[in-house]
Amino acid sequence: MTGQLETAPSIRRLSPPSNVGAELAADTRQGLIGTPKQLSSKYFYDARGSELFEDITRLPEYYLTRAEAEILTLYADEMMDAIKPVELVELGSGYSVKTRLLLEALRRAGTGTLYVPFDISEAAIRDAAETLSGHYPWLTIEGLVGDFPSDLPKIPHSGRRLVTFLGSTIGNFRSQERVEFYRSVGAVLEPADGLLVGLDLVKDVETLLAAYNDSAGVTAEFNKNILHVLNRELGANFPVDEFEYVVKWVAASECVAMGLRATRAMDVTVADLDLTIHLAKGEEIHDEVSCKFRYDVVVAEASAAGLSVGGWWTDTEDRFAVALLQPKPVSRQRPWKLHRPRQ
Ligand SMILES: C[S@@+](CC[C@H](N)C(=O)[O-])C[C@H]1O[C@@H](n2cnc3c(N)ncnc32)[C@H](O)[C@@H]1O
Repeated sequence: MTGQLETAPSIRRLSPPSNVGAELAADTRQGLIGTPKQLSSKYFYDARGSELFEDITRLPEYYLTRAEAEILTLYADEMMDAIKPVELVELGSGYSVKTRLLLEALRRAGTGTLYVPFDISEAAIRDAAETLSGHYPWLTIEGLVGDFPSDLPKIPHSGRRLVTFLGSTIGNFRSQERVEFYRSVGAVLEPADGLLVGLDLVKDVETLLAAYNDSAGVTAEFNKNILHVLNRELGANFPVDEFEYVVKWVAASECVAMGLRATRAMDVTVADLDLTIHLAKGEEIHDEVSCKFRYDVVVAEASAAGLSVGGWWTDTEDRFAVALLQPKPVSRQRPWKLHRPRQ
C-alpha cells in the first residue's frame, strides 16, 4: 500500500467535433485550390498517424527523440528548479513518453501533482493518460483534446505553470508562425511560469534528410496518412499508392520540407467539398516542414513575442536543445546560462 489514491484521468474536448470537421474542410479546400497545393501536418494525427509517429521516434535515423530524452535525463531537475511548477501542461503531448522524465523530476521536486496533456489526437491522449495513471498513482491527469494555438486560452490555470512543447514540433511552423505561437503561449503564462521548447538544431544536411527519409519507409507512410484521412473524413478518392514521398532541404529557411508527388496526371474528387482538382504528373502537395534552429534565431523569435530565454540545455553531441522561455521583463530573470553537458 502506498497510501496514495489513484485518481482516474479525465479527458475533455475543448471544441466540438463539428468545429474540427468544419476546419478540416475549410483548410483542405483552401490548400487544394491554391498553388502550390498544400495541406496542414496537423491532419496527419488520427489514431493511425499518432501510432506511426511513435514508430518514427524509434527509427535509427531519427536521432531527435533520443537526443531530447538525453537532455531531459540530464537536466529535468534543473528545469523543475527553475520554475517550481504546480502544474505541467504539455502541448502536442502525443503518447507522453519522454514526459515521464519530467514527471519523475516533478515528483522529486515535490512542487506539484497535476499533468495536463493537450493534443489534437484524442486516441494518443487516452492511451497516454491510461498508461501514466497506472505508473504514477500520485499524479492527477486532466487530458485536453484541442488545437493550438486557438484552444490555449481554454486551459484552466491552477498554479505556477510549466508548459512544455517537445519533439521539435515548433519546427512545423515557419518563422512568423513561430512568433505568433510563442505570443499565444505567452498570453497564458503568468510572470513566474515558463515554456520549455524542444528544438532540433541545424546540422549537416545528410543527417537531417536521413531523419525524414528512413530506409524502412515509415516516414513516407506517416506522410501519406494525410491522404487516408481526407479519403475517410471528406469522401475524397486520392489513390494513395500513386503518390511518392518527397523530402528536401530548403537552405534559405533552414527547413526540411516534405510532401507527396503525383506519379501520374489525375483528377481527384473530394465529395464532401463538392470539389474536383487536377494534379499534373509530378505535381507536389506540400504537407509538412520541419525547421531547424540556431540559438540566435530562438532568442530573436522569443523576444519578438515578448519572451526571453532563461535556460538552454543541449545533448552531448549538440544535436538538439531544450530552451526555457519566460515572460519578460528580463530584469527579473536569472542571468542567462549556457548549459553544457556534464562530462
Ligand atoms: C512531432 S509530434 C511530437 C509528439 C511528442 N511531443 C514527442 O515529442 O514525441 C507532434 C504532436 O503534436 C500534435 N499536434 C500537431 N498539431 C497539433 C495542433 N494543431 N494542436 C494540438 N496538437 C497538435 C500531434 O498530434 C502530435 O502528438
